Amino acid sequence: GGTVWGCHHPPSTPPLPCLPSLPVLGSLLSLRGDQPLHLRLRELGHRYGPLYALYLGPHYTVVVNSYQHAREVLLQRGKEFAGRPKMVTTELLTRGGKDIAFSDYTPLWKIHRRLVHNSFTLFGEGSMLEAVEALCCDLQASRGQAVDPGPPLMRAVTNVVCTLVFSSTYQPGDPELTSVMEYNDGIVQTIANGGLVDIYPWLRFFPNQTLTRLRDCINIRDTLLNKKLEEHKVSLSVGEPRDLLDALLQGQTGDKQTRGSGVRGQGSRLEEEGICEDHVLMTAAEAFGAGVETTSTTLLWVLAFLLHHPQVQGRVQRELDEVVGCGRSPNVSDRAHLPYLDSVINEVMRIRPVSPVLIPHIALTTSSIGGHSVRKGTRVLVNMWAIHHDPDHWDTPQDFRPERFLDNEGRRITPSCFMPFGAGPRVCVGESLARLELFLFVSGLLQRFSFSPAPGVSLPDLQGRLGVVLQPLRYSLTTGPLNPRFDTLNPQTSPFIP
Ligand code: HEM
Repeated sequence: GGTVWGCHHPPSTPPLPCLPSLPVLGSLLSLRGDQPLHLRLRELGHRYGPLYALYLGPHYTVVVNSYQHAREVLLQRGKEFAGRPKMVTTELLTRGGKDIAFSDYTPLWKIHRRLVHNSFTLFGEGSMLEAVEALCCDLQASRGQAVDPGPPLMRAVTNVVCTLVFSSTYQPGDPELTSVMEYNDGIVQTIANGGLVDIYPWLRFFPNQTLTRLRDCINIRDTLLNKKLEEHKVSLSVGEPRDLLDALLQGQTGDKQTRGSGVRGQGSRLEEEGICEDHVLMTAAEAFGAGVETTSTTLLWVLAFLLHHPQVQGRVQRELDEVVGCGRSPNVSDRAHLPYLDSVINEVMRIRPVSPVLIPHIALTTSSIGGHSVRKGTRVLVNMWAIHHDPDHWDTPQDFRPERFLDNEGRRITPSCFMPFGAGPRVCVGESLARLELFLFVSGLLQRFSFSPAPGVSLPDLQGRLGVVLQPLRYSLTTGPLNPRFDTLNPQTSPFIP
């Protein structure tokens, strides 16, 4: 219905507490300040209770700060809350929701999501192990010097996604890789700054540097992906897909017999009904948008916490020594035997979830949360940060303690209120891929290197800042000395020393 200034709730249920709001501004005055959004929303929960409402500009939005309510939104009534708001930046980015993350919950979206999910299960650890190897060579070269681990990690993770999406791997410094990293970074930066345009869509009619930059980056991205797509169409064959583009092209043709691999037909009626070329391109683009910044930032957090907790780093390395030794690289079959390493990754994702308020959800029908009726069209922000720091569910939640993910016998436990990838119908579609990648990178790095603070430089700041993802401020570390156990290896025969 029409916008009501004040809290609107059907009279049958108790009203949700609502932040004060003004015309046009909504509750933005209450959100002002230096604090990042997830912390501010949590703090407001102390005053308004764990479930409250506010207006983001004109948009009535419910904030969920507790596990109990998150479970209702994501799992118990997951389908009712599986919509996504349309936003100016994301409409530009995804050609009007032809991707997965920002598409509404439709039958076509379900087919699309399943296709992508199935494609991901086809890809093994091969390309990731190569990227780990290349990263180790990179770090080996700067051994003993203070380096910012951000760029090499970003390069490595970008390479993994390039291999996965279009089977290209790049040497450091390759202009195509540099271009991918630049436009991706440009998109990430502008999306992070684009917040106001998303609250007030009419702002897009004013000259807007952020949107201009976003359009430029999107053009560069689309040119590259189009080129890759055309190459794939020419070389596509039946049988095992080489990469995500192949899998999507095959899914597209399998979906509609009339469309051979070389048939263009963009905009035809048939394509409008199914997965069209825009979907293929936007899915490829999204693997970068959703898969690079999240994974590389999580790895940066892992290293930052290990610098603060050298005894944790030591324990991971002892576990790796016992289980893998130093004659070969860790691989996916070792994962079951490395519970402590896993618990470190989990604890990092608990204490610094890179997506602290997930992606906004929207109610597709009138539903309820915590016994309060919630109208169709209501936006819902699930504050995973608050849930991961809730003292009702975690002992000393502000402390970094990987053992909380292990029982007394050292076996894994996963508390149900641990949801760094979300849950339910909108759970991260790249979760298994991301977990595998995190495992291979962390195990590969810690088997070979010890990381310590760069001399004379302070330890990394652990508060971080919220852009598109929650990231640590830049820091530097010293790699090495090479894990002393490897000094006994003959450099000529060691698989690890270039
Ligand atoms: C969605 C986390 C890596 C693709 C999400 C969401 C979170 C998340 C919290 C939103 C869930 C919600 O709105 O309820 C992460 C983390 C990652 C990671 C922590 C790495 C450490 C990846 C990777 C890919 C990926 C590697 C793909 C290559 C997606 C997509 C969605 C998504 C497509 C949208 C799903 C949907 O709306 O249905 N992720 N993600 N993510 N993620 Fe990830």
